[in-house]
Amino acid sequence: MKIAVIQGPNLNMLGVREQNIYGPMKLEQIHAQMKDFGTQNGIEVEFFQSNLEGEIVDKIQECYGEVQGIIINAAAYTHTSIAIRDAISAVSIPTIEVHISNIHRREEFRKTNVIAPVCASSVVGFGAFGYHLAMIGVAQIMNEIQAANEMQQQATPAQ
Ligand code: DQA
Repeated sequence: MKIAVIQGPNLNMLGVREQNIYGPMKLEQIHAQMKDFGTQNGIEVEFFQSNLEGEIVDKIQECYGEVQGIIINAAAYTHTSIAIRDAISAVSIPTIEVHISNIHRREEFRKTNVIAPVCASSVVGFGAFGYHLAMIGVAQIMNEIQAANEMQQQATPAQ
């Protein structure tokens, strides 16, 4: 099983950027922990960060047929990007969105979320720990899909 972790604009600045909101951890440290969880649970994890909307759309499209789950923090594009939303819909891969901060308790413009409705779930406001919660969530979703596929195979008579 393989998943992609897609990080949007300014998340490469974690550890530097507004530590009172986003905490002290750097993106590489968060990714190292996610990779460890993946290794322990038989999940290959690929990481991608971009500050450019089109590159994020390209990456989501590249996931088609390659990965079984996506964890995305679209960062500021969460609030504006119909293109990223449409890409998630297009590939139809179970996707969990993460926000380090609680976007519902911040400025009004962060309450608009165009990504969440096309995601399986959202993890919001747990700080960097939210990425770990998303890993647990994606593992659970993939196990459920695998179990459903196995049941279907058993129910289909051999040709
Ligand atoms: C964020 C919240 C967004 O509103 C913001 O633009 C970010 C990070 C978060 O993880 O809390 O860049 O997605």
